[in-house]
Amino acid sequence: MADFARPGAEQWVPEGGNLAELRAAAPSCQGCELYLDATHVVFGSGSQQADLMLVGEQPGDSEDRQGRPFVGPAGRLLADALAQAGVPGDSAYVTNAVKHFRFEERGKRRLHKSPAVAHIVACNPWLEAEVRAVRPKVIVAMGATAGRGVLSRTVRVTAERGRVLEDRLPAAEDARVLVTVHPSAVLRLRGTPEFDREFDGLVADLRTAAALLRPGGATVPPRRWSSDAPAQS
Ligand code: URA
Ligand code: SF4
Repeated sequence: MADFARPGAEQWVPEGGNLAELRAAAPSCQGCELYLDATHVVFGSGSQQADLMLVGEQPGDSEDRQGRPFVGPAGRLLADALAQAGVPGDSAYVTNAVKHFRFEERGKRRLHKSPAVAHIVACNPWLEAEVRAVRPKVIVAMGATAGRGVLSRTVRVTAERGRVLEDRLPAAEDARVLVTVHPSAVLRLRGTPEFDREFDGLVADLRTAAALLRPGGATVPPRRWSSDAPAQS
C-alpha cells in the first residue's frame, strides 16, 4: 500500500464539537492511510460526564469488526482489572490514541501492527477533541503509544507508571495524567509466572487513578517520578 503524505485528522474534527458531533464526524476521517484497510473507525465510548478517561493504543481485530473500543480479549482483561480496582466499568470514558486498526495480513489472519509515531500524531486531533469534550479529572494512558498520544512526548512506561505525572495538557489543564501498562501486554503473559504480578500492577495503577477521584483525592500532590521511582516496577 502506498504510504502517501498524511494530512492529519485536523480538518475532519468539528471545532468545539461535543462527543456526539465528534463521533458522527469520525467515520469520514482520511487523516492518514489507516482508514483505507480498516473496517470501522473506532471512536471512544462512554459518558461525556466521565471523570476518568482510559486511553489505549488502537483498535484490535474485534474492535475493528464491531466498531467499539476494548470489546475483544484485551477489553475483557481490562474489565477484570477495573472490577478488581473497584472502578465501575461504565463510569470511565474509554478510547484509543489511534482510531483505525493497523494490521498485516497473514493468510486469513490480520496481525496487529503497532501504529507508527506518524499515525499517533495524525490521529491526535481526535484524542485532543475527546479530552476537550469530556474534560476528565484523571486520564490513564495505557502503554507507550497512549502515553505519546496523551502527552506528545516519549513515555517510559516502566519508569513512569502508577504516579501522577507533572505534565499539563493544553486540552485539559486540570486533568491529572497517569501511565500504566497496556492490557494487551499483560494478556501476552497469560500462562507465564509473570502474569499475576503484571495484572496486579495494572490493578494497582487503576486503584491509584480511582483514589484521585474520591473526595480529597484531587488534593494529593503530584509525586516526582524521577526521585522516588522504584528500581523495579
Ligand atoms: N487494544 C487497544 O489498545 N484498544 C482497543 O480498543 C482494543 C485493544
Ligand atoms: Fe483519521 Fe485516525 Fe483513522 Fe488516521 S487513524 S484515518 S487520523 S481516524
